[in-house]
Parts: sequence; C-alpha cells; structure tokens
Amino acid sequence: MQERTMYEGADIYDIENSGNRDDIDFFVKCSQKYKGPILELACGTGILTLPIAKEGIAIDGLDLSSAMLRRAKIKAKGYKNVHFYRKNMMKFNLNKKYRMIFIGFNSIFHLKSPKEISAMLDSVKAHLEPGGVFIVDCFIPDSKYLIRDTNKKYPVHNKDGLTIVERNEYDTVSQVNHIEWFYSYKNEEWIEKFDLRMYYPQEFQTIIEMHGFTIHKAYGDHDFSALESGSRFQIYECKIKM
Ligand SMILES: C[S@@+](CC[C@H](N)C(=O)[O-])C[C@H]1O[C@@H](n2cnc3c(N)ncnc32)[C@H](O)[C@@H]1O
Repeated sequence: MQERTMYEGADIYDIENSGNRDDIDFFVKCSQKYKGPILELACGTGILTLPIAKEGIAIDGLDLSSAMLRRAKIKAKGYKNVHFYRKNMMKFNLNKKYRMIFIGFNSIFHLKSPKEISAMLDSVKAHLEPGGVFIVDCFIPDSKYLIRDTNKKYPVHNKDGLTIVERNEYDTVSQVNHIEWFYSYKNEEWIEKFDLRMYYPQEFQTIIEMHGFTIHKAYGDHDFSALESGSRFQIYECKIKM
C-alpha cells in the first residue's frame, strides 16, 4: 500500500475533523476572556484559529507543515486579523509578545521528549506579555487504547466516505505510541505512519513547573470542569512564575 506523509493531505485532515469539536468553543471562550494578541502553536488548517479570528480577536498561527498552512491561508481569506507562520514550535522567534499562547488538539504529543517540551516552553516564555497565559490541551493517555493486539486494526473514522482504521504498538519505556493509519477514500487507499509521545499528568505538570511556569488552572474537559481522577483530558492554564 502507498505510504503518505502525515499532514500532507490537509484537505483529508479537514474531512477527518469536520465533526463536532468541543475544544473550539473552549478556546473561543478563553480568547474572549484573555483577548488578543493570541498565538496558536501547531495551528494546522486553522480549525481552532479561525473561530477565534471570527470574534475579531488578533491571532497568529504557527505550524511546521506547508500543506496544512496552505489550506489554513485559503480558509482565512478575507480575515485581516490572522497571520500564519511556518515555524517549528520548538524554536521560534516572531519578535512579538502575546496575551495568550495555546497548543490544542493533542499536538503536544508530537514533541518526543521532555527536552523537546522544554525547548517549546522556552520559546513560549519569550513571547508572552507580562501576565500572559499559556494553555495546553491534550487527552490523558489511556492504556485501554495503547496496549492492544498489535496485529489487529481498530476503527478511527468512518464518515463522509472516509474510512480510517489504525494499528498501533506502544513502547512502555519510551512512552511512544507507534501508529499506522490505513486510509480509504474515493477508491484510493494509503497508509500514514506516525509516532506520538504520551505524557501523563504527573510528568507533564512537573515539566511545566520545572520550566518556570505555574499551573493556575487545571481542567479535565472542555466544559471547564476540574481535572480529577477519571477525567479524559488534561488542560493546563499556565503563567510565568513571578
Ligand atoms: C493534530 S494537528 C492539530 C492541528 C490544529 N491545531 C487542530 O486543532 O486541528 C497537529 C499539528 O501539529 C503540527 N506540528 C507537528 N510538529 C510540529 C512542530 N514541531 N512545530 C510546529 N508544528 C508542528 C502538524 O503539522 C499539525 O498541523
């Protein structure tokens, strides 16, 4: 089967993510509270960026993938308050300060080690206004989905003519989930392989706090409920330690 690079098919990414995403409302509410300027790291095709821009708030999006950014720019046509940059979130310099910086939709799992997260946090710190807030949102890794039969394929998506099934192999020492997604769309079939580094709440909170941030709010879901045992998400609102 033909192999494609992840995020090369930005149009397919938008079909995959055309369903209800309750994180959109969460980030719109945060941006209404903190106002602009806002920076979204790993903004992709602008699924979170554009609803914030629609509120008239100044927002910039940063991503590493040209294909995702190309699509984001097409979708943002006509908006004067949104700008996109092709940068690595681990090391960027936009010569600008932001009131709120965020990274949503599990994109943090693309950073493969605490060292890589530290590099990203250093760049975030350099771009936050005094009193500015950094928000990170990802799911809490669940062993039910990580430790499974590596020979079996499990359903991921089946809607709008697009089918995705996955096979995965989780390395319990490196905490990296090696994933293969098998796509089927309009008589085409292909495979995308990618790795996601899992971060558990205790490790993640420690990394954030050891890099000069305090977590002043921890939510367990996009309805702003508190993070507690059984929560599906870990969402941290952080400020630079005084
Ligand atoms: C799961 S998508 C999220 C996209 C978008 N935020 C959303 O909510 O749909 C992850 C994004 O992270 C980007 N990405 C991965 N590693 C990156 C890096 N080191 N720097 C910047 N962007 C990165 C990918 O190109 C991709 O667009």
